[in-house]
Amino acid sequence: MPPRHLISLDEVTADELAYLFRLASDVKAHPERFRQALAGKTLAMIFEKSSTRTRVSFEVGMYQLGGHALFLSSRDIQLGRGETIGDTSQVLSRYVDIIMARTFAHATVTGLAEFSSVPVINGLTDDLHPCQAVTDYFTLTEVFGPDLSGRKIAYVGDGNNMAHSLLLGAPKVGMDIAIARPDGYDVKATYLAQAQRAAEAAGTRIELTDDPQAAVAGASAVYTDVWASMGQEEEAAQRRADFEGYTVDESMMSLAADDAVFLHCLPCHRGEEVSAGVADGPQSRIFDEAENRLHAQKAIMLWLLDADRAE
Ligand code: CP
Ligand code: NVA
Repeated sequence: MPPRHLISLDEVTADELAYLFRLASDVKAHPERFRQALAGKTLAMIFEKSSTRTRVSFEVGMYQLGGHALFLSSRDIQLGRGETIGDTSQVLSRYVDIIMARTFAHATVTGLAEFSSVPVINGLTDDLHPCQAVTDYFTLTEVFGPDLSGRKIAYVGDGNNMAHSLLLGAPKVGMDIAIARPDGYDVKATYLAQAQRAAEAAGTRIELTDDPQAAVAGASAVYTDVWASMGQEEEAAQRRADFEGYTVDESMMSLAADDAVFLHCLPCHRGEEVSAGVADGPQSRIFDEAENRLHAQKAIMLWLLDADRAE
């Protein structure tokens, strides 16, 4: 049987997501019960892009589960000198038990999965960031309880990898999602179509608008991300102009529900996509969210390696 991968939330069912949240919660509350769960297992972590949270949380997570993690910068392995994705994937599969990769092209991660005989986890591509979205919805279950249905998440900003992953996850947790983005920064049609199919099945709503205030109105969670993602550094100045009016500040937050929280995958730029007052204010959950990467990804690795039973 081919291994199970985590490439996109489109491939994860609502029940599986709910299961991952329960497991993450268990791992978080009782880490000692899982300290040998992945003993003798090795995780290869391929990075084409920078990372603080993903690298550290996967490496520490693997250590805390009794396993070992290898950091492989694409600049240092032969992949960076032209060895094919297929060969890299097949070779790594002979050495390690699980692979995580952060890449520019989404096709690099799907290519790794295609040729791998061990599970592959998408640690962010230009298109998707599923580990972050699993963590974000897990964080919302901690705030609001396990049943998120009937609530709305508002995403204000670029139609990027985070927007896509939150969009795909919302129907799976029963949430409505409103995405506010300026003209020219829309989400990709493929992911929107996938999310629309999931929303139809779940009976949830998807709203796309260029009015951030309308998106945020009544939302339980307000989310934003950088205006220029990794690889778009040269567009930063243009994007700062195009995203005028999209800063999540105190007045925008005041339109959300009274108990609304603010989330951001981080890193953030205070004064650009979020005001310092919101990022560091009482509604912000950004550091709980960052911590939860550790717990959620431990759950993901345990699940993919079929090692999800506590001692
Ligand atoms: N949110 C996130 O993935 O952070 P890093 O880029 O630091 O890994
Ligand atoms: N959209 C951002 C997310 C960083 C975690 C990027 O791709 O740079």
